[in-house]
Amino acid sequence: VSGGFQAPKGTFDVLPAEAARRARIEQAARAIFERAGYGRIETPAFEDTELFERGVGQSTDIVNKEMFSFEDQGGRSITLRPEGTAPICRAYVEHGMHKLPQPVKLWCSGPFFRHERPQAGRYRQFTQIDAEAIGTDDPLADAELIGLLDELLRELRVPGVELRLSSLGSLDARSRYLDQLKAHLHEHEAELAKEVRERIDINPLRAFDSNHDGTRSVMADAPKLLDQLDDEDASHFEQVRSLLDAAGIAYSLDPTLVRGLDYYTRTIFSFVCDRLGAQSEIGGGGRYDGLVEQLGGPPTPAIGWAAGIERILISLDEEPEAPQRDVFVATADSGQRGRAMAIVSELRRGGLSAEADLAGRSLKGQIRQADRVGARRTLILEKDGSAQLRDMHSGEQRPIDPDRAVEELGGG
Ligand code: HAM
Repeated sequence: VSGGFQAPKGTFDVLPAEAARRARIEQAARAIFERAGYGRIETPAFEDTELFERGVGQSTDIVNKEMFSFEDQGGRSITLRPEGTAPICRAYVEHGMHKLPQPVKLWCSGPFFRHERPQAGRYRQFTQIDAEAIGTDDPLADAELIGLLDELLRELRVPGVELRLSSLGSLDARSRYLDQLKAHLHEHEAELAKEVRERIDINPLRAFDSNHDGTRSVMADAPKLLDQLDDEDASHFEQVRSLLDAAGIAYSLDPTLVRGLDYYTRTIFSFVCDRLGAQSEIGGGGRYDGLVEQLGGPPTPAIGWAAGIERILISLDEEPEAPQRDVFVATADSGQRGRAMAIVSELRRGGLSAEADLAGRSLKGQIRQADRVGARRTLILEKDGSAQLRDMHSGEQRPIDPDRAVEELGGG
C-alpha cells in the first residue's frame, strides 16, 4: 500500500477495465433518455444542508444519520448530496422551470454520498442514474418512468429482476393512515423489536422493513395504506396499473413497500434483483407531488427514480471486456521509433485505435505487447524504412506501404 493510504472507508477506485463496464451502462441510459426526450441536468455535488432536511425529511435515516455534512469557511452548513431529487427540484424552482411546457423531463448521473455501514452493494460514495418528470400527475407519466427503468435493465440484460409496486396515496390520506398505523403499533408495543418501538412516532412505516419475528407478525395484521386509498388516489393507481399491463410490464403489488425518503406520494416502485443479496434494490422511485411546493415552488406534481450503477454491475457479474486495438506499430530498429509514433498519430487521426511501444522493448517484446493490448494487426517498421503488416490472429505477414497505412488499414 503506497504511503499507507487507502481509499476512504466505503469508497473505491474505478480502474480502467471497470470504467469501461460503467461507461457502457451510462451510454445505454443516455441513449434511452435521448430517445425519450429527457434533458440532462447537472447539479452540484453539495447543497445547503437544509435542502435535504426539508426535502428528504427529518425522520429519515438519510437525514438523521447518513449525511456527510460540514461547515464551510463562511459558516454555512453544507452536505454532500445523498440523493438527487431534492437538488433537481431546487433547480426547477430556482430557474423558474414551471414556466416551461410541462412536464419538464430531466435525467442525471453522478456521485452521491451516504454515511452508511459499507457492505456488498452499499457504499459511502456511489453512482446513480436518475430520471425525473416534473409538472404532471398524469398516470401516463408514471408508466413512462417505470417503463424507462424497465427498458434500461432489459437492454443491459440484468438477470432476475422483479418490479414491486404500491401507492401511498396523497399526503393527507397518508398522514391519516400513519395515525392509524401508530395506534396499531402502540397497541402491540410489547411484541415489537426495540428499535421499532423507539421509532413508532418518528417513522412507523419502517416497521414493515423489520426482520424481527414479533414485529413481522404484528405487521402482518397492520392496516395497509393500499386498502384505504381515497377514490382519486385509487383511480390514479388503477390507471397506472392498467397502463403497465398494456405495456407488458410485469409487477407484483407490495402493500408493505416503503421507501427511505419522506417525499413520496401515490405511486412508488422498486426494481429488485435476486442476485444482489441484502441490498437487493437495483433502483426505485415514485411520485413526489408535494416536494416542489415544499421547496418554495408552485404546487407541482412529479415522479422519478434512481438506479445504482454499482448494483447493476454486481448483478451483471460479467467478465471485464478484453482490450482491443486496431493496430500496433512496432519497430525492428530503434531508429524508426520516431516514425512509428508519427504513423500512430496519423492512424489515430484517421479514426483507428493505435499504439506504439513507449518502453524501449525489443521487437519480440513489442509483438507480445501488441498481443496484450488486443491489437488485431501489427505494422512492423524495418530498418530500411519498409514495413510488414502482421495479422495477429493468423500470424500471416505481408508487405505494406507505411506511407499509406491509414488507407490500407481502413481508416478514413
Ligand atoms: P433511493 O432508493 O434512496 O432513492 O436510491 C436509489 C438507488 O440508489 C437504490 O435503489 C440503489 O440502487 C442506489 N443506492 C442507494 N444508496 C446506495 C448506497 N449506499 N450504495 C450503493 N447504491 C446505493 C433515491 O435516491 C431517490 N432520489 C430516487 C427518486 C428519484 N425518487 C424520485 N425520483
